Amino acid sequence: MRTFPAAFGLTSGQTEQVVRLAGMAPSLHNSQPWRFRVLPHLIELHADPKRHLPVADPEDRELRLACGAALFNLRLALEQAGIRPVVTLLPRLAAATALAEVRSGGHVDQRPENLRCYEAITERHSHRQPFRNIPVSAADRHLLMRAAHEEQAWLHVVQPGEQGTLEGLVHRAHRAQMADARFRTEMAAWIGRTDDTTEGVPVSAAGPKPEPKDQWVHRDFTAGHTERSPGTEFESNPLLVVLCTRHSGREADLQAGQALQRLWLITTAQGLVASMISEVVEVPETREELQRMLGGNVVPRALLRIGHGAPSVPSPRRNVGDMLVDDVSGAFES
Ligand SMILES: Cc1cc2nc3c(=O)[nH]c(=O)nc-3n(C[C@H](O)[C@H](O)[C@H](O)COP(=O)(O)O)c2cc1C
Repeated sequence: MRTFPAAFGLTSGQTEQVVRLAGMAPSLHNSQPWRFRVLPHLIELHADPKRHLPVADPEDRELRLACGAALFNLRLALEQAGIRPVVTLLPRLAAATALAEVRSGGHVDQRPENLRCYEAITERHSHRQPFRNIPVSAADRHLLMRAAHEEQAWLHVVQPGEQGTLEGLVHRAHRAQMADARFRTEMAAWIGRTDDTTEGVPVSAAGPKPEPKDQWVHRDFTAGHTERSPGTEFESNPLLVVLCTRHSGREADLQAGQALQRLWLITTAQGLVASMISEVVEVPETREELQRMLGGNVVPRALLRIGHGAPSVPSPRRNVGDMLVDDVSGAFES
């Protein structure tokens, strides 16, 4: 078997662990659209062209968001190993698939708040079950807003007066996607998996089958394998947040992904759970309306519901060796 390549003076085993943790990031339908090129002095993050979702994500915005989240994990894992990560987004001299390159800036001791994030990497999962009806404290909200801010993003906490409009947009986006046979076919290829899958969403992580009366969770990951237990009701008042960036474009997508991951890891470290509600930012018309709802000056990247809940089921990941890439020739713009 091939030895895992080593970077930055770390052992092969340490480097493998760094890449494994990067691959624990969230991604649309658990498509894991990243690859890593590991050299002694450099780790490059590449988009994986075979894993893009042309119907839900035609411009690869969410692909780059997921890769940004993987980059954030990579930063944390390197820092934990004592390496100060120096990141260049969209390096100009690299292959067209390269989204970021990370070099060593010497030794670093991990900051306490980054250690908390690091420790949450393997605990963070999408929580598609109903939450408990316990409000998220003002102190926790503040921490979440700060997390987004630290990664050059901004967190809009949805106010009670905005919920009706947002709920309408989410419903509309969901209906538009489900009316598109190509969307249904694409999603069906990634869901309804058994637990021995290495990608896609297993039925065990699907959550209850959504019903039309549900307010926020509409995307059905059950693929018809499970029925909803009688009496299962979603929480009446989750914390809803919209992660936003100031700009649009490829670099901003990667920035948003790093912010998403810091936000989600802090959420986890605070004992909270979250799931994403992406249809509203995937459908261009509802994304534009959401942008107008937010005042027009920021770009909405992700809508999340956050609350209190029991630990959720992890979704599996590919073997870490399968995330490596040696040959980065072959142009693919992402
Ligand atoms: C860009 C993006 C969009 C996503 N959209 C949704 C969504 O609409 N609904 C949902 O339940 N999960 C969504 N997810 C979560 C993924 O399904 C999840 O990250 C993946 O299945 C891996 O599972 P994990 O988060 O438990 O590690 C999204 C994740 C990303 C990064």
